Amino acid sequence: MSDKKNTVIFISGRGSNMQKLIEAASDANYPAKIIGVISNKRDAQGLEFAKKADIKTAVISPKDYKNKADTDAAISSLLESWDVDLICLAGYMRLLGAEFCQKWQGKIINIHPSLLPQFKGLNTHQRAIDSQASDHGCTVHFVTVDMDSGPIIGQIIVPLQNDDTKEKLEKRVLIAEHNLYPWALAQVASGEVNFSD
Ligand code: GAR
Repeated sequence: MSDKKNTVIFISGRGSNMQKLIEAASDANYPAKIIGVISNKRDAQGLEFAKKADIKTAVISPKDYKNKADTDAAISSLLESWDVDLICLAGYMRLLGAEFCQKWQGKIINIHPSLLPQFKGLNTHQRAIDSQASDHGCTVHFVTVDMDSGPIIGQIIVPLQNDDTKEKLEKRVLIAEHNLYPWALAQVASGEVNFSD
């Protein structure tokens, strides 16, 4: 019997972080198994990659439900039927409700393109350039009810350059994200890191 943690990845679009997690988890010694991918968008590019990798996929679109609570409840039911241990948000651009976050607390992690607690929310790269900070980067953290605020699992610093544009910076940060997320999921799946407030 495998003691790998059954992990589901949530996406909304391109899914490059999802790809890196799937690739990392293909190693026999990796402590998590990617058993599914859920998107809130039917046309998320990442779904195709997941299907080709023989990973089951589902689309749960808020458009098909009365409200956020019903959408979140549908996601939770599916996760329970899949016997999920861990959830990775990877470019999932929809806010999960408080009840969902509490139910899965300690089992749900997110990647964010900034050195949290700086630049919560959107448009982080332009905001980092505008702030004239010397460093930017990315963070993987546990998800709690307050957006982009849960305990930090790991960060990678990406120094700003004089000629940075939002596009150039985003590219360098994305490379750092691709290194950080597989490492961070392994930390949680192996029990090296646990949720604590
Ligand atoms: C990534 O940069 C991720 O950090 C960001 O969206 C991008 C998704 O790219 N997430 C957020 O901004 C969440 N607040 P990907 O689909 O190629 O992984």
